[in-house]
Amino acid sequence: MTVQAIAWSPSGAVRIVDQRALPDARIERDLETAEAVADAIRTLQVRGAPLIGIAAAMGVVAGTRDLRAAPRERFVARLDELVTLLAATRPTAVNLRWALDRMARAGRETLGDGAAIWERLKTTATAIWEEDRAMCRRIGEAGLPLVPDGAAVLTHCNAGALATGGIGTALAPIYLAHEAGRRVEVFVDETRPVLQGSRLTAWELGHAGIPCTVIADAAAGSLMRQAKIDLVIVGADRIAANGDFANKIGTYALAVLALHHGVPFYCAAPSTTIDPALSDGDRIPIEQRGPEEVTMLAGRRIAPAAAAVLNPAFDVTPARYVTGFVTDRGLAKPPFGDHQ
Ligand code: MRU
Repeated sequence: MTVQAIAWSPSGAVRIVDQRALPDARIERDLETAEAVADAIRTLQVRGAPLIGIAAAMGVVAGTRDLRAAPRERFVARLDELVTLLAATRPTAVNLRWALDRMARAGRETLGDGAAIWERLKTTATAIWEEDRAMCRRIGEAGLPLVPDGAAVLTHCNAGALATGGIGTALAPIYLAHEAGRRVEVFVDETRPVLQGSRLTAWELGHAGIPCTVIADAAAGSLMRQAKIDLVIVGADRIAANGDFANKIGTYALAVLALHHGVPFYCAAPSTTIDPALSDGDRIPIEQRGPEEVTMLAGRRIAPAAAAVLNPAFDVTPARYVTGFVTDRGLAKPPFGDHQ
């Protein structure tokens, strides 16, 4: 039913759906090296917090395939190199760092030579992927009561199957509601500047047979004022210990609008997105991306070449705007510090 965003190729490469080409074309690419995976993460061929963690873990495995006959020291040195390379690709989603730390730990803990360490890395990467798939399902089950028959749900960016190893986070309750035969009206923010909403969320919902309505980001407030939205569900890239969270730029504005209009605002994420080491959202590193994402659209310049551009990829929504967190551990309501 839902699209699968990642897989092993028969030769042990990382097979991805190149998300830059959607919705026009569904192109699968086999990434043979960790460097190719790093490039794919940096250029948004694979994106979404859980998926970049999974892709990076699988990239470590693909990138050490040729070292199976190597002595332990050489293998571990290369493992460290690849972990550093992949960790530097994107700063905001904590899932990336979490997955790579787990891979590095697994490698170092394993006694023996390259072959033994490589087998353990492969098992660990596969476990990271499978655990994410299971967490997505549990998020869907925890969020299902929030989506009754006839609900109108607004979502932002893409926090669906294309962003995870399973059925998504914010979209998981919607998929399960649809599976249960409930009618759900899904409004999808187009999500400027890179349009993950209109290009990816609308595509994957359509692929699963769930109709949706794409809106310009600026239309959300007006729809809420007309009482056309029952609830908002978004994903997260990092949740601080106090419940502040980072997600795609525009999420904060949506949260403010939701509070103003009395619309419940939920954040859905696996526990791997929680960063208990960060006390609050102001400490979350926010990725700044290239100006061309803002000044160019579909190959055409839409701002003067000389215009200054600010392009933060994420913003921080303070915990006080959040009605609840939907996680694999259930639905957490305020105060959030106690639940994380
Ligand atoms: O820049 P992106 O496309 O990687 O941003 C993704 C998001 O902001 C998602 O909402 C978030 O990662 C949650 S994905 C389940």
